[in-house]
Formats: sequence, structure tokens, C-alpha cells
Amino acid sequence: MVSKTGLLYFLNSPYVKVIFMVDINLKNQTPTAWLNRVLEHFNEFLIDHAANERKAAMTAMSMVAHYPDRVSLVETMIDLALEELNHFRQVVKIINQRKLIIPPDRKDPYISKLRAQFNNGSENYLLDRLLCGAIVEARGAERLMMVSKALANKRLAKFYLSLATSEKKHYLIFLDQASIFFEDEIIKSRLEEWQVIEGDIIKTLPTLPRLH
Ligand SMILES: [Fe+2]
Ligand SMILES: [Fe+2]
Repeated sequence: MVSKTGLLYFLNSPYVKVIFMVDINLKNQTPTAWLNRVLEHFNEFLIDHAANERKAAMTAMSMVAHYPDRVSLVETMIDLALEELNHFRQVVKIINQRKLIIPPDRKDPYISKLRAQFNNGSENYLLDRLLCGAIVEARGAERLMMVSKALANKRLAKFYLSLATSEKKHYLIFLDQASIFFEDEIIKSRLEEWQVIEGDIIKTLPTLPRLH
């Protein structure tokens, strides 16, 4: 389970600046219709949620592979991948307790649509990977917190609260990494664009018992 220890682990890293000059305001808050759908089909949600945690770990590791010369990014993304993999393991345990079957991987239209908005050029692309990563984590934090507050099962609610807290920390980590490589004004300006892009994409998606 993600804990304060995890946060301290990140914050103790010499590569974390801790001073966050920018924050994320999600456009288009998730409607309660989504939450209701999740609660009605919670097993389906669990399976999709597990896939999201696994993909988050893989995305972090792909950053490690693509930017081996960016020391702070490599160390931070390895830590992030471990934490996401731990989330995956925890959700898989719940899935197995319920004797559910995990289906083959499927594409996530939300992520595909976001990726289609990445700018070209190595620096622009890195900035977009970091800011898009931040906004995906922020959306995850918003939705997992909604789930946590609505779950009647106290143990499960506590677990989802811990995950929501962790995803909030992750979006700050992505912003922090962006602030190491880019000027604050550049980050602010592109983040504003990303907030609109993500808000537009999320509202076009059907209301399904999935994280996105
Ligand atoms: Fe996670
Ligand atoms: Fe995360």
C-alpha cells in the first residue's frame, strides 16, 4: 500500500525540487454518472484499473529507456515504475481474490488520443510526455478519490484513498521533472493547453466502468 514512506522516498531524492511553480486544474470534472457506472460494474472497473497501473509502470520505464542521459529523470521514473507496479500487484490480488479473469490487453482510446497531441521535436516531445503524464496522473487521482469516497467497503475505500493520494503525488513528480528541464513560463503555457486538450478528450469518451 502506498504510504507516507513512499512520498518521503520521492521527496528525499536529490533530484526532486519540491517547489512546484505550477499546478493542474482539470477541465471537465468527472460526472457522477461515471462513478455510478463504476460502482454498478466494479469487477469490470477493477480489471481496467489493473491494466492502467501496469501501463503506468511501463510508461515510466519507457522514459528510462528513451532518456538514459537525463539522470534525474531516470532515477525518478524507476521509482515511479516500482510504485505503479506495486499498485498493479495490489489490484491483481483483489482481482484474484474475486476469481476474475484478466482479458488480453486492449488499447486505451483516452491515452491514444492524448498521444496524438504530442508536439514534434525532441525537446517539445519530452515536455509533452511529462505534462501529459502529469495530467493523466491528476485525472487518475480525481477519479480514484471519487471511487474511494463512494465505496461502502471500508477496506477497499481505504485502499482507493491510498491510491488516489499516490497518483496526486505522481502528478507533482511529473511537474517537478518538467521544471528541471524547462522554464516555468514554457511549462505553464503548454500545461494550459494540455488542460484544455485533456478536458476535451475526456468529455467525448463514453461513460464506461473504466478508469478513462
Ligand atoms: Fe498508480
Ligand atoms: Fe500514478
